[in-house]
Amino acid sequence: MAVEKVHECAQEEQVYHPSLSFSARANVRDARIYDWAGMDYQSFWASEAEKLHWIKPWEKVLEWQSPFAQWFVGGKLNACYNCVDRHLDGWRKNKAAIIFEGEPGDQMVLTYQDLYREVTKFANVLRGMGIQKGDTVSIYMPMIPQAVIAMLACARIGVPHSLVFGGFSSEALRDRINDAASKVVVTTDACWRRGKAIPLKQSVDVALQSCSSVEKVVVVQRTGMEVAMEPGRDLWYHELMESARAGCEPEVMDAEDILFILYTSGTTGKPKGIVHTTGGYLTGVSSTHRNIFDLKEEDVYWCTADIGWITGHSYIVYGPLANGSTVLMFEGAPDYPEKDRFWEIIEKYQVSIFYTAPTAIRMFMKWGEQWPAGRDLSSLRLLGSVGEPINPEAWSWYHRNIGRENCPIVDTWWQTETGSVMVAPLPGLTPTKAGSATLPLPGVFVDVVDESGNPVGAGGNGYLVIKQPWPSMLRTIYKDPQRYVDTYWSHFDGMYFTGDGARRDEDGYIWVLGRVDDVINVSGHRIGTAEVESALVEHPTVAEAAVIGRYHELKGQAVSAFVTLREGIAWSPELERDLKTHVAKKIGGLARPEEIVCAWELPKTRSGKIMRRLLRDIAEGRVLGDTSTLADPSVVSQLMKQKTL
Ligand code: PRX
Repeated sequence: MAVEKVHECAQEEQVYHPSLSFSARANVRDARIYDWAGMDYQSFWASEAEKLHWIKPWEKVLEWQSPFAQWFVGGKLNACYNCVDRHLDGWRKNKAAIIFEGEPGDQMVLTYQDLYREVTKFANVLRGMGIQKGDTVSIYMPMIPQAVIAMLACARIGVPHSLVFGGFSSEALRDRINDAASKVVVTTDACWRRGKAIPLKQSVDVALQSCSSVEKVVVVQRTGMEVAMEPGRDLWYHELMESARAGCEPEVMDAEDILFILYTSGTTGKPKGIVHTTGGYLTGVSSTHRNIFDLKEEDVYWCTADIGWITGHSYIVYGPLANGSTVLMFEGAPDYPEKDRFWEIIEKYQVSIFYTAPTAIRMFMKWGEQWPAGRDLSSLRLLGSVGEPINPEAWSWYHRNIGRENCPIVDTWWQTETGSVMVAPLPGLTPTKAGSATLPLPGVFVDVVDESGNPVGAGGNGYLVIKQPWPSMLRTIYKDPQRYVDTYWSHFDGMYFTGDGARRDEDGYIWVLGRVDDVINVSGHRIGTAEVESALVEHPTVAEAAVIGRYHELKGQAVSAFVTLREGIAWSPELERDLKTHVAKKIGGLARPEEIVCAWELPKTRSGKIMRRLLRDIAEGRVLGDTSTLADPSVVSQLMKQKTL
């Protein structure tokens, strides 16, 4: 992986201190937590793990054979039991676990008791199909409670789930099902998006033409769209659930048994199956959810991510439910039927904690402050941000217009691989600065280092690394431990490399600047440049392709592609459109290039390596950097001339 120069970023340095009233009631009030967790991080994490329900206690907190970690060695637990059963003892059994609002405005509330019934019934359905430890289940669903039920049912019977974001294409779904060799796929007929039913089962049918492992497909009826049901293979969820029995003994899981696999983009064309295990992951997500969001029993907590991404796994499902919170789940888009849908929901359900992404905040800014101003947002007491660097203007807008200058903002830096948040303020303790995720959490050893792995110190730019193992760290890449070692542990001796660049300011605060590898972050979603490039060259007209992420006002970054065509093919607006559609079909709408530039040659070094840095300069209209290593400098001047971006 090429590690390129870290970009500079503009900063605003106003410091926001937690209010005295917030600090006085905060879950974490004593700043010494940083010291004692720093001195003995294993004891710190063990004390957080003790807040979970263990069937059998662990014998050793950490077994570290770098870079392979085992946390809570010998401990036994069940993640589903921790998220559901243990809340049934007292009054919490009648507490809302999930408040669901569908896009058309339908509502459903599941108490913890309801969740227990539905999850155990579906666990029995899966067991009835012969699914057991050693199998995997793929879940391709929209944001509806049945998706959470399916995840927890898998966890209950000890079967790793693999969620595939509903916006991914059938081909992307096929590759993920095949890599995980799933026996069952759970899906819906379709999902609602801005008043239209978007088919999902249809994509599953196409994917399954080349997935030999799949025996059964369970279909939840969501929109009523007509779907083809293959006899013997396809089954309706509601019919299965009608006859299913409630109550299902949870499987006794080892702390290190796999809880789930989640695919994410890397620097090669093949997505990586990130493996998370049971004990450490649940410890990390429950602890961070409680501490960073300052969770109280009475909170209504809303995270707007999709459960198909890690944010949904950790901070809609496992963290919040392990903590017995009330989770709001919303299926639709923020601008349907009107641009105040989110604010209407906050007002309607009196949401107190709201966690969203900078890309959404920038969109709200564009729509105007009259939309939130027309709603009562006084229930809010804490705001969160995740997915990409939040620019100071968006941070301040969020603070003013949504938080009404009354809510701390927790900017949380983390990754699919880290499982839970690594860098974020503790809202009762940490003064915040607009645009900085502030400091590593207690027990987490994040640093910014130079090329040789030495800390850059105050005022320095460098690479973001993690220096000690943490409980919710990925354990490996599914079926590819060598790729795990190469991708994360071979850049800096003994350190986990995040792929991000960052700056440390004079107060030691971390300012994450974005990816320094070949990964693009579009609206907080990761896309590998190599994935888009290989989709493009599969098209019969394309000879070569280079893909970069360029600055985009709303999305953070946009996919920008440069192609050369095969002999005899003429460039046209229709071909550009075709190529964009082709990429969306191969990967999913989120990878669709914003623009495609046709070049007669791509800028390459004399050794044949494409100079992406120059392409980025061209796409962003910057003065070109060093071009002296180019094999043919005229390629760049030609590209500059024809640039129509
Ligand atoms: O570049 C960082 C960015 O998102 C990447 C991780 O993407 P993913 O695995 O899809 O997980 C997204 C949600 C956790 C990181 O390498 N990123 C995430 N959060 C932040 C961020 N960049 C800056 N600030 C953040 N708060």
